[in-house]
Amino acid sequence: MLNIIVVVGYLLLQLVTVVNGLQLTSTTDKDSICNVAKYIANGELNYYEGLKYGGVVGMFAPPNYWWNAGEAFGGLLDYFTFCEPTNDTLKELIFDGMYHQAGAGYNYIPSNQSMTEGNDDQGVWGMAIMQAVERNFTDPPEHSWLSMTQAVYNTMNSRWDTSYCDGGLRWQIFTWNSGYDYKNSIANGCLFHLAARLARYLGNDTYVETAEKVWDWMYGVGFMVHTQQGFVLYDGADISTNCTDITKYQWSYTYGIMMAGCAYLYDFTNDDIWLERTQELVDTSNFFFNNSIMTEMQCAPSNKCNNDQRSFRSLFARCLGLTNVLVNSTDITSQIEHWLDVSSVAAAQSCSGGSDGVTCGFNWSVQGWDGVYGLGEQQSALETVLSLLTEMPLSAKTGGVSQSEVNAGLNTQDTINRNVISISTKDKAGAGVLTAVVLAIILAGGVWMIL
Ligand SMILES: *[C@@H]1O[C@H](CO)[C@@H](O)[C@H](O)[C@H]1NC(C)=O
Ligand SMILES: *[C@@H]1O[C@H](CO)[C@@H](O)[C@H](O)[C@H]1NC(C)=O
Ligand SMILES: *[C@@H]1O[C@H](CO)[C@@H](O)[C@H](O)[C@H]1NC(C)=O
Ligand SMILES: *[C@@H]1O[C@H](CO)[C@@H](O)[C@H](O)[C@H]1NC(C)=O
Ligand SMILES: *[C@@H]1O[C@H](CO)[C@@H](O)[C@H](O)[C@H]1NC(C)=O
Ligand SMILES: *[C@@H]1O[C@H](CO)[C@@H](O)[C@H](O)[C@H]1NC(C)=O
Ligand SMILES: *[C@@H]1O[C@H](CO)[C@@H](O)[C@H](O)[C@H]1NC(C)=O
Ligand SMILES: *[C@@H]1O[C@H](CO)[C@@H](O)[C@H](O)[C@H]1NC(C)=O
Repeated sequence: MLNIIVVVGYLLLQLVTVVNGLQLTSTTDKDSICNVAKYIANGELNYYEGLKYGGVVGMFAPPNYWWNAGEAFGGLLDYFTFCEPTNDTLKELIFDGMYHQAGAGYNYIPSNQSMTEGNDDQGVWGMAIMQAVERNFTDPPEHSWLSMTQAVYNTMNSRWDTSYCDGGLRWQIFTWNSGYDYKNSIANGCLFHLAARLARYLGNDTYVETAEKVWDWMYGVGFMVHTQQGFVLYDGADISTNCTDITKYQWSYTYGIMMAGCAYLYDFTNDDIWLERTQELVDTSNFFFNNSIMTEMQCAPSNKCNNDQRSFRSLFARCLGLTNVLVNSTDITSQIEHWLDVSSVAAAQSCSGGSDGVTCGFNWSVQGWDGVYGLGEQQSALETVLSLLTEMPLSAKTGGVSQSEVNAGLNTQDTINRNVISISTKDKAGAGVLTAVVLAIILAGGVWMIL
């Protein structure tokens, strides 16, 4: 009898644990936050391929693409910095993963990814390594994280394309990838964001000029629209219409990346225009909250979010955290802190699924796990919880030690990069021929490997 009571009691306890998921008992106590974050980070690392036999260092399991890894490392780096700064095993995992994917030109255009990589993908990796700079993460001896971020920035900026829509970056880098004829807010937002961070970190106004160029273009072309609520950000448009036929989807990460970019610029320039723009992007970000719970509104209500879209809230949350520490206006911080408090508790309690009982879900309005799981769910929950702990990013003035190299990335010698640079700077008429040549090189390489 006693045994039965014990067993029943045990089962009830299990049930309670499962129903409750991870309980974030305090949104201010670091130990309690890190305690929850540890479960979520460990769940995320289940998808990491770099430690598995035959796995590629720096990559996560399919269906996750290369860019998802860039997104993941940004969150893991914050987790390491805020919660486990003395864990050398974790440090090595992050260091090796991020460095291995730098590519032969140390600009995050690895030749393996030439069939998938777009400007936004390179930009998201740029955000991860810029975070390494701002968190004083140990630099590789030959190439500092800062010089590699500058290489990402320089190569992206050199692709600025005035032949259609009066400017802007295309979505894709390579002519042969579909989306090469599309210009969008996320690719351009990444350039804006990186320019803002480099400006602040280095105290260099040239990057502010680039950020202004991107902002003005996005506004001028109508990707960003000024409404009564503030700035609304749309997805993008095809060059065949000279960017006039705009796809009016809205994504949380685009808002986050633009908002945090404005916050970095405000912190550096002290110019009120950037404070106003931050405020207006915070106001319109209200779209992504349902009863203050972060929700990918474009696709979640209809249950149509794809694998990428299920991860967007990770970057959104990270950027809310950064905005919160960079801008000291209480109008902004009280709003952001409220969203993060409510969303982090909701995200944590969704982590009650899977065989481990702590797998995170997608719909955080459900009391418990909704049965959806993946890298995107882990990332989004992790970064939302961690955004409660965001610290002020370092700059060169406040103790950052990463070495600057202003022209990094612009003189690379390897085949892929030479072609990328020449597509962007030489006449576009040659692009078709170049495509054929590069494809021939890749195919020849493939045939050679098979033989
Ligand atoms: C250090 O990090 C690794 C990888 O996340 C983890 O497996 C290990 O448990 C951590 N060590 C400690 C002491 O927490
Ligand atoms: C490129 O792919 C090869 C074969 O899968 C792999 O061994 C290598 O580590 C990859 N390199 C990078 C940077 O991903
Ligand atoms: C294309 O769009 C840009 C920016 O909106 C505009 O300045 C330019 O005049 C347009 N060009 C044509 C040919 O319509
Ligand atoms: C998310 O969960 C809430 C609360 O259970 C529910 O009302 C809503 O319909 C869910 N959304 C989707 C798309 O299932
Ligand atoms: C906010 O930051 C600005 C610029 O750093 C500073 O001048 C101002 O005193 C700060 N305001 C508050 C309320 O802390
Ligand atoms: C917002 O949350 C409420 C309560 O959980 C739910 O009924 C509703 O369906 C949600 N709305 C959207 C658009 O997700
Ligand atoms: C950054 O790291 C270096 C060692 O690599 C250290 O000397 C320096 O004090 C650190 N700076 C800060 C602000 O933590
Ligand atoms: C500022 O950045 C620009 C763009 O990378 C660079 O050309 C310039 O040399 C930098 N200025 C200083 C003083 O480092």
